[in-house]
Amino acid sequence: MTALPQQSRGVTTLLVPLLIGGLVVVALGVFGRAHTPTGFAVGVAGFSAALPMKVWLTTGAFVLAIVQVVSALSMWGKLGITIPPAVHRWSGRLAFLLTIPVAFHCLYALGLQYDVPRVLAHSLLGCFFYGVFTAKLLALPKRDTPGWTLPVFGGLAFTALIGLWLTSSFWFFTAIGFKV
Ligand code: HEM
Repeated sequence: MTALPQQSRGVTTLLVPLLIGGLVVVALGVFGRAHTPTGFAVGVAGFSAALPMKVWLTTGAFVLAIVQVVSALSMWGKLGITIPPAVHRWSGRLAFLLTIPVAFHCLYALGLQYDVPRVLAHSLLGCFFYGVFTAKLLALPKRDTPGWTLPVFGGLAFTALIGLWLTSSFWFFTAIGFKV
């Protein structure tokens, strides 16, 4: 039996990360639709309500995601300045951590809503963000994945987070204002 050429062997190593990433997207979507939204809100010190808290945490994740992309470009020698790889790693981890309490509130208190196009886009992007983030983390330790894997998964996660910010925090800042 002839061995698989290098390129297709690389792509097959992505099957499991892609499959599990896809399962995460579907699981979040099904949970977001199947469970009855509780509407519960958590009070967090320094914020007047859950909504402004979510808006500012999401904005924090948005800014850290930009740091991630700039530091990734530096790591790939595209910037001509050297930013330590630790900046890329930690900005990514912090950005992800900031989204957790926000998405927990979205999924548990609000659920996946599709009555308004902005909120539908937001809800789907939210599920997709965690799916592509999972696939990226699972592909990261694999040695023989194609060279485009991390830039593509990282780029998709970044685009999803930008879309999440535009369909929530940016909407809030333009519709309601810079409230804390
Ligand atoms: C995981 C799936 C997610 C679902 C189903 C979801 C769903 C929702 C829904 C239905 C709303 C209310 C929208 C409105 O009526 O205005 C909302 C608000 C919000 N979501 Fe999410 N979301 C998700 C993930 C995320 C993530 C990952 C972030 C941040 C990174 C986020 C940030 C926000 C913010 C800041 C608001 C408040 C502003 C607003 O009301 O639009 N969401 N979300």
